[in-house]
Amino acid sequence: MTSRDKILNLFRLSPDQYISGQQISRSLDISRSAVWKQVKVLRELGFDIEAKHSRGYRLLAAPDLLLAADIENELNNQLIGRSVISLPETDSTNIQVRRLAEDGAHEGTILVADRQSAGRGRLGRRWESPSGVNLYCSILLRPEIPVQQAPQLTFLSAVAVAETLSDVCQIPAEVKWPNDILVGGAKIAGLLNEMNAETEQIHFVILGIGINLNMEVDQFPKDIKYPVTSVLLESGKPVDRLLFMRELLQRLDGYYSEFLAEGFGPIRSRWEKLFFMMNKKVEVDLGRSVLCGTVVGLDAEGALRVQSDQGQVERIIAGDVSLVG
Ligand code: BTN
Repeated sequence: MTSRDKILNLFRLSPDQYISGQQISRSLDISRSAVWKQVKVLRELGFDIEAKHSRGYRLLAAPDLLLAADIENELNNQLIGRSVISLPETDSTNIQVRRLAEDGAHEGTILVADRQSAGRGRLGRRWESPSGVNLYCSILLRPEIPVQQAPQLTFLSAVAVAETLSDVCQIPAEVKWPNDILVGGAKIAGLLNEMNAETEQIHFVILGIGINLNMEVDQFPKDIKYPVTSVLLESGKPVDRLLFMRELLQRLDGYYSEFLAEGFGPIRSRWEKLFFMMNKKVEVDLGRSVLCGTVVGLDAEGALRVQSDQGQVERIIAGDVSLVG
C-alpha cells in the first residue's frame, strides 16, 4: 500500500472525524510535510478533504475512483484480494499481472486500472478501456488442479460477474458459451483468462475481467461488430464502481474457495442456470460443418454438450453457437 492509500485507509477507519497531521505522520512513519503533500495529491484526485488548523484533516467526500485502500477496506476475503494494486493507467492489466506472477506474486493478487491503453480482448481483439467509467481488472490464481481443468475457472468468473450484475444493478445478465456475459443479447462484459503451465502443472492462471459499467454510447468503438451495452445504458443509472468491485471480489473469493473444496459441480450448475441456450435448439457452426441439436449442458472440461438431432451427445470445444427459431 502506498502512503496515499494508507492515509485514505485512516480516513475510512474514522469516518466524519478529524485526524491530526501528527497522528497521520506517526502512524505512517513519514514527515508532516509528506502528509501534506499526499493530502494535496488526494485533493487533485478529487477527494474533498477539509483541513482545520487545530484539529487536522477530515474526509468529506470521495470521487468514484478504484483505489487499492478502498477496495481492500473491510474485504475479509480468504484469497482473492489479499493484495490489491490500483493504477490510474496501464497497457493491459493482464500483461501487468503476468509480470507480477513471473516475479513470484502470491495467489489472489489483483491489479485494477482506471484506464487501459492496450486493453486486450479474445482472439487478438482490442478491449475499449476509457477512464472513469468501467472496471478492468486481472486476478492472479495458482490453483493446484490438473491443467485440463483450468477452463473451469472461466465459468467461475462468468458466474460471479453475471450474478453481481443481477444483484447489484438489477440487470438480467446471462452467460453465453464459452465466456461472454450478455444482457438482452448485447455484450456487457468479457473475460480473458490466460494460463502459464507445463504438461502436468499449472504455474498460474490470470482471470482478466472487463465490465462495461458507466460507459456511454459514444464511448464504444464505432466499428464494433456485435451488439454491446453497459449498466448505465441498461438501467439508466450509473453504478458505484467501488461497491460493484467489492461485491464482485467477495463472490469470486467465495466461489473460488468452494471450487477448491468441492470441485466444478456447484459452479457448473450455477452457470447452466444462467445460460440462456440451456435445453434450447441450437445450430453450432463448426467451420467445416454445422451441427443441429439441443444444448444439454457443460462437461467437466468446459466443453458444451449438444445432443444432435440424430441422438448422440457431441462435445463442442470451439464453435459458434446460435439459437434456432
Ligand atoms: C473479450 O474479448 O470478451 C475479453 C475481454 C477482456 C477484457 C479484460 S479488461 C481487464 C483485462 N485486461 C485486458 O487487457 N483484458 C482483460
